[in-house]
Amino acid sequence: MSSVLGTYARKSISFTRGKGSYLFAENGDKYLDFVQGIATNILGHCHDHLIKAIQEQSKKLWHISNAFVIPEQERLAKRLTDNTFADFVCFQNSGTEATEASIKIARKYFHKIGKPEKNRIITTKGSFHGRTLAALFAANNPKHTKGFGPKVDGFDQVPFADHDAIKKVISKNTAAILLETIQGEGGIKVVPDVCLKGLREICDAHNLLLILDEVQCGVGRTGNFFAFEQSGIAPDIVPIAKGIGGGFPLGACLVTKKVSIGMTPGTHGSTFGGNPLAMSVGNAVLDIIFGKDFLENVKQKGKYFDLGLNKMKEKYPKIIAEVRGRGLIKGLKMLVDNTEFIKKLINHKMLAIKAEENVVRLFPPLIVNNKELDEAMEKIDKACKEMG
Ligand SMILES: Cc1ncc(COP(=O)(O)O)c(C=O)c1O
Repeated sequence: MSSVLGTYARKSISFTRGKGSYLFAENGDKYLDFVQGIATNILGHCHDHLIKAIQEQSKKLWHISNAFVIPEQERLAKRLTDNTFADFVCFQNSGTEATEASIKIARKYFHKIGKPEKNRIITTKGSFHGRTLAALFAANNPKHTKGFGPKVDGFDQVPFADHDAIKKVISKNTAAILLETIQGEGGIKVVPDVCLKGLREICDAHNLLLILDEVQCGVGRTGNFFAFEQSGIAPDIVPIAKGIGGGFPLGACLVTKKVSIGMTPGTHGSTFGGNPLAMSVGNAVLDIIFGKDFLENVKQKGKYFDLGLNKMKEKYPKIIAEVRGRGLIKGLKMLVDNTEFIKKLINHKMLAIKAEENVVRLFPPLIVNNKELDEAMEKIDKACKEMG
């Protein structure tokens, strides 16, 4: 019997090694890994540049308190702000902490400008923001909140992509709208560009902040650094995690100068957030992501995968209802049970992960090549045939 607390319904396979798009099981079996730590190992397993960065930093300095200036942290923050809407970054260890930091920054901003009554946040149904208490009740998914009351107050939830519902719920107490640019756990539901523009307009009209959770869909996954970029709008606060650490625990919250004004010394902190070891990996991830043509290649590979998956949908209209996603964040809405489908894929040595709405999520690493995408399509084809 395992001594690990049983909070996961784990599969019985365990892996000893990974390289690029592949994982190797204890018995030597090779799996095509399109889970990648749930959209986390964006450069695949054991990328040479990340290995080098972590090895070099591990010989110099692992951890130091945020009471001191950390040059690697300064560098990562500068690179993130130079290349995005943001002016400041605060570093965390995970996505849920980054989301919580967003909530704190939004509330503190209104407190600072003399409007402390503006402290409620509008969230959308089907969202996921992490497992800490505020993040749980922000998303308000009964599957996750049951038994964890009392409810953390301060959130007003509306249906997905329903602007009229948002307008109705706005009150003098509303501070912000928080949503994922692409709902991940909710079933790879892309918020259309026009909808993001509309949300920005609503926020501007009512003096609200727009917080876009890009923990799962950000850091290059869509072929833009942020998923919202192609809409042309700019949010006020963006939490990220997963991809920015390439598999090393790292989260961050990006914010504009205007909105950052409440966050003075002592208002927020973290023992580990932004330590030199994590920062060396974050910087190494950006070396690759900001490299020439990298993001353009993600877009091209995303189109290639999309085309192939849509062909599969046409070939198996009774198995696949819809291909969702953008770039290399993909979801197949299934007409057969998603868990059964994933089991078939595992039999064919491919890993995928489920989401709400009977969706199978596919997260190739961003360094995937077309041959590996073809291999994935062959395995999906076989699973479809067997489920038919
Ligand atoms: C959109 C989103 N926000 C927040 C989180 C929480 O991240 P973490 O598990 O690193 O706390 C996740 C995790 O899946 C996520 O997908």
